[in-house]
Amino acid sequence: MSCRWIGTSWKMNLTLAEAEAYAQVLQRVLRSRPELTAGIQPFIIPPATALAAVHRVFGDRSQRPGGLKLGVQNAHWEDSGAWTGEISVPQALDAGADIVEIGHSERREFFNETIRTTRLKVLAALRHGAYPLLCVGEPQEVRERGQAAPYILGQANGALEGLSPEELSTVLIAYEPIWAIGASGRPATAAELSEPFEALRERFGRHVGALLYGGSVNPQNAAELLGMENVDGLFIGRSAWTAEGFTELLELASAA
Ligand code: PGA
Repeated sequence: MSCRWIGTSWKMNLTLAEAEAYAQVLQRVLRSRPELTAGIQPFIIPPATALAAVHRVFGDRSQRPGGLKLGVQNAHWEDSGAWTGEISVPQALDAGADIVEIGHSERREFFNETIRTTRLKVLAALRHGAYPLLCVGEPQEVRERGQAAPYILGQANGALEGLSPEELSTVLIAYEPIWAIGASGRPATAAELSEPFEALRERFGRHVGALLYGGSVNPQNAAELLGMENVDGLFIGRSAWTAEGFTELLELASAA
C-alpha cells in the first residue's frame, strides 16, 4: 500500500462533548486543507462510548474528509451473545468503525489478551470486512536479551498464520515496544527500530496493508520515524489527544 497510515487511539480519554469538539475541529481542518491527507490515510480510534458520536460528526463513510477511517480499541470475536461488557465487530461497524485494534500491550498486560484471542479477533474483523490493526511489541527485558524480533514475530505469526494473501492485504501491524509507550516510556530510536521492522518486512513482505510504529510518537520524532525504511505509518497516543496535536502530526507527515 503506497499511502501512509497516520492515526491515533484516544485510549480511555475524552468525554462525549470533548470527542465531538475534537471531531468538529478536525472535520474543518481536513475539509479546508486537503493537502494534509494527500498520500495519507488518517484514522481515529475513539473510546467505544464516543464512536457513534464521532461517526455522526464526520458523516457517511464515503463523505468523510481525507477519507478518514474510524476504529474501535477492541472487539469480541463472536458476533453477538452473552458476553457481558464486550462489543462485537458488527456492533463496532454499525457505530462507524472501519478498523478493529487488536492486542494492544495494555490489553495483553491487564486484560488477559492472549495470542489465541488476538487470532480469533483478527478472524472476526476479516469476516466482517474490517481492517484488523494488530499491535505487537516486546517488554524491556526481552529487548535487553536481544530477543525483540523473535518475540514480535511470535505474536504476529500466532495471530496471522495461515491467512490468505487477500486477507493479509487488509491487516495493519503496529510495532509498539512496551518500553516506548506512554508517560513512563521513552521514544525508540531509529537504530532500535530497524531490526524489528526488517524482521516484520521479511516475514510479511508487502503482503500486509501497512507496518506502523507506535510509542511516544511526537512532533520532534515523527518525521525521522516516517523516513525509516519499512515504516509505513504512525500510531499515536498522547501527542494526538487534541485535534491540534493530531493536525500538527498530519502536517509533519504530509511534508515528510
Ligand atoms: P503513546 O501511546 O504515543 O502515548 O506512547 C502509543 C500507543 O500506546 O499506541
